[in-house]
Amino acid sequence: MKKIMAFSGSNNPESINEKLVKSIIQRYSNYDIRFIDLKKFDAPIYSRRIHQRGIPQQIQDLYQVFQQSDGFIIASPEHNGLPSAFLKNIIDWLSVINQRFFNNKPVLLISTSPGVTGAKTHLAILTKLIPLWGGILRGTYSLGSFNKSFDITSNTIIKEEELGLIDQRFKVFMGKDVALKSNKEIVQNYFTAFQSGNLEVVLSTFHPSCYIVSVKEEERPAEQLHGIYRTRKEAKQFLKNIVTLFDTKEFTVDMIVEAEANVVVSKGSFSHLVKSSGKLFRSNWVQWCLVEDGMIKEYRFYEDSAALIEASNIECIEL
Ligand SMILES: Cc1cc2nc3c(=O)[nH]c(=O)nc-3n(C[C@H](O)[C@H](O)[C@H](O)COP(=O)(O)O)c2cc1C
Repeated sequence: MKKIMAFSGSNNPESINEKLVKSIIQRYSNYDIRFIDLKKFDAPIYSRRIHQRGIPQQIQDLYQVFQQSDGFIIASPEHNGLPSAFLKNIIDWLSVINQRFFNNKPVLLISTSPGVTGAKTHLAILTKLIPLWGGILRGTYSLGSFNKSFDITSNTIIKEEELGLIDQRFKVFMGKDVALKSNKEIVQNYFTAFQSGNLEVVLSTFHPSCYIVSVKEEERPAEQLHGIYRTRKEAKQFLKNIVTLFDTKEFTVDMIVEAEANVVVSKGSFSHLVKSSGKLFRSNWVQWCLVEDGMIKEYRFYEDSAALIEASNIECIEL
């Protein structure tokens, strides 16, 4: 799969299913998953009379988007044990263009609701129907008790065991197909997330067994910034150390190049306000990344550590 299309079957502007599907896009940010806002393709309730006048343009446009997609993640809300009328209507319109509008592509079906079952009932119905619409159903997942299970501030599922289940379903959904972005795009993605302060996405770009060298290739006490970090868990500490020490005023990326197979080298500059001294730490930086399975496996970041000592205003500091 190269391009995956993800959407919610809700026309509710505050849709919890939309939040769920967006959290999945965020979690697997190394993959090319595009959110499609179905609300923009809303159409009148299907009627033969309207159909005879022509299929609404927005449905024809949506059908074209479907044709360009290599897989689908659908978050479907449940209304009285059935899919929403909004989603059903869009399905009806698409089906009059082509009954098999999913075009023999894989589908991952998910749902959530405030109730404990997470809208599971209607997924059983959709499970039977998706093959009739040309979809290859590769898995289902329901998140129950949305209000207790989902943190809307960070836009993530709270419970680790639920994340584990999502990971399993996503792996099966992807199969052996590849929807990974290029190595350069993955590193670009890291920087974009870092620049916008989206640390969850930054974290998701690190391989679970990553190896990070922040300036010095030495063991370090937990709160020390410079040194070695191993695994994604320690990558979290790396990010924590950065935000604890600095208030980043500027972070520019001047160049990203794929240097050799799986190696991406970048350079740029930054300006951090050192929180403890109130002084600016300005530096050029160089980053070297080894990319594996669409994630950063090895990460080396070099900056002007002498300038940091100066900006920290401390004679001798263990960085
Ligand atoms: C008319 C109606 C019927 C509903 N029926 C169900 C239901 O059968 N099962 C369920 O889990 N939730 C049901 N709900 C609650 C929805 O799960 C809840 O409104 C949810 O926010 C819908 O998803 P959305 O926010 O993505 O639109 C129903 C809500 C409405 C308005």
